[in-house]
Amino acid sequence: MVLSSKLEMLQPPATIAMTQKARELKQQGNDVISLSIGEPDFDTPDFIKEAAKQAIDQNFSHYSPIAGYPELKEAIIRKFKRDNQIDYKPSQIVVSTGAKQSLYNTFQCILNEGDEVLIPIPYWVTYADIVTLSDGVPVLVQTTLEEDFKASAEKLEKQITSKTKALIFSSPCNPSGSVYSSEELHEIAKLAQKHNLIIISDEIYEHIVYGEKAVSIASFPEAYDRTVTVNGLSKAYAMTGWRIGYIGAPEWIAKATETLQSQVTSGANSIAQRAAITALDADLSKTHYMVEAFEKRKNLMMRKAAEISVFRVNEPKGAFYLFPDVSATFGKTYRGKTIQNADDLAMFLLDEVFVSTVSGSAFGMDNCLRISFAASEEQLEEAMNRIREALV
Ligand SMILES: Cc1ncc(COP(=O)(O)O)c(C=O)c1O
Repeated sequence: MVLSSKLEMLQPPATIAMTQKARELKQQGNDVISLSIGEPDFDTPDFIKEAAKQAIDQNFSHYSPIAGYPELKEAIIRKFKRDNQIDYKPSQIVVSTGAKQSLYNTFQCILNEGDEVLIPIPYWVTYADIVTLSDGVPVLVQTTLEEDFKASAEKLEKQITSKTKALIFSSPCNPSGSVYSSEELHEIAKLAQKHNLIIISDEIYEHIVYGEKAVSIASFPEAYDRTVTVNGLSKAYAMTGWRIGYIGAPEWIAKATETLQSQVTSGANSIAQRAAITALDADLSKTHYMVEAFEKRKNLMMRKAAEISVFRVNEPKGAFYLFPDVSATFGKTYRGKTIQNADDLAMFLLDEVFVSTVSGSAFGMDNCLRISFAASEEQLEEAMNRIREALV
């Protein structure tokens, strides 16, 4: 008996694999510092937890509407207007079990066999796999550290063919921390209009920024009718386990994802949805302490990275990852081990100094390493000291 051939090309994300290996080493009694993690190290704020407790007492225990409770859709509409200057109607909003499901639904609904999707490198691990699972073809667009890991409209256009159907990117970007400027996004919006492309804009890190606000591409008239804006509660509200994501999209796409979802998961978790209403309606100042902590850590990481001569680093403008180019270590031998690529380096750092990171190869860029700073300043300082000492 054999499994579906689709499964053959699926691997668990490297981020999860590294986190698992780090956990095992920790269980064996090693002092592991886990910086492979892709989630805030904060607990969900109390005012959101209270809302969930109330929802339990109020018996929100039944199946929820497929696309989300009307009150949550209204809160999402207010959020899009307040933070992104985008106007959506309830029929354009679909709530799902995490932004990951929102992305999966979207690609399942828009792609036919052979349709191409432009994905700038580095990209979040899951994009390429979801596109392939949806019978599409990921078309990877190379960027460089000098370009701040961003793909310009001009660069994207070079890889457009008659089969190109869509474009996906995250801003702020996981893993690079890059944030596209308003001008850059406007050029991409015009490009998408010119070539009739659908844009999938993953904005899950929008509130975790260290300077300029992240702009939503759907706020440009050229993009509005062709953009699926993906967001969720995981990062900004430290609610990764609650599993609430959502899209704002053209009605025909929203409707299709609702139909798909009705046959796959039904509506998202009822208690988490009620808590999400409270979270989204809260003033952003209530959760800003997390952004302030991330910014302090980012500054610490930049200082510590400067002490590691084999790192070349761009300052992250958002998200909570440092993404150094580590190619200066390739071909060198440390503690008797020769490093050929970023996979080797990530494994070396875990085995030798018990610091877990993720190889850039997981994000399509194998000369880089992703180091999460969703950890305490003490842990970060210690981890960066260990890395520096291991790489002399
Ligand atoms: C860029 C990006 N998009 C989407 C997600 C998925 O978020 P969720 O927890 O809502 O599924 C993640 C999570 O790591 C992410 O980094």
